[in-house]
Amino acid sequence: MKKGSGKTVNARKRTGVRRSSPSMRAGALPVNAVFLVGFMGAGKSSVGRALGQRLNWVFEDLDDRIEAREGRTVAEIFRDSGESEFRRAERAALEHVLRELRGGGARIVALGGGAFVQNENAALLKRSGVPTVFLDAPVEDLWQRCCTQARETGAERPLLRSMEQFRELYEMRSRSYSNASLKIQTGSRAVETIAAEIADTLGLRKIELRTEQGEVE
Ligand code: S3P
Repeated sequence: MKKGSGKTVNARKRTGVRRSSPSMRAGALPVNAVFLVGFMGAGKSSVGRALGQRLNWVFEDLDDRIEAREGRTVAEIFRDSGESEFRRAERAALEHVLRELRGGGARIVALGGGAFVQNENAALLKRSGVPTVFLDAPVEDLWQRCCTQARETGAERPLLRSMEQFRELYEMRSRSYSNASLKIQTGSRAVETIAAEIADTLGLRKIELRTEQGEVE
């Protein structure tokens, strides 16, 4: 079974926001896409879904695109072909979504925990000018969330092994995540609150939907 997502992101503390993307400066063109990055269990999918609903933007999880393109689950790719093959598929899926974004549309994309720490992927994203948002929480909370999801939804994460390995990987990756345009400690806040903060900070515009009678929904 695929990964599931919790209703709230329940780490304890929120330390704030760093702004550095040119797309956030006054006078910049409106942003039409946002990529959510961060470790396993950071709440990328649940926050992304809430942000998509808030703005009426399409939300997608890059892992879903990988599975659709490859015709097998992330866990199957790891098991049958190894991590390097998964990273190849992940890069190809990222390139695909970036190509689509050049054609217009508005989208929130949640990346798997290892995607942004691959230098080539980070460089691709930087060149695209699309803002990246790093969702973070204490590693103990990330571990707990992943274990809860595995227990409750059967979510399979090939890199969820022991707490020690999890912590080591988190520490190895955390500097790379910090290169994101914006960092948000998820705190014990509801996903809707985090989504609102991302939308406000990046100045994301809601797409107004109209009913058949022309009324704004
Ligand atoms: C991975 C995280 C997973 C998934 C794959 C590899 C990682 O996504 O892409 O199992 O390297 O951290 P989530 O971060 O959504 O669990």
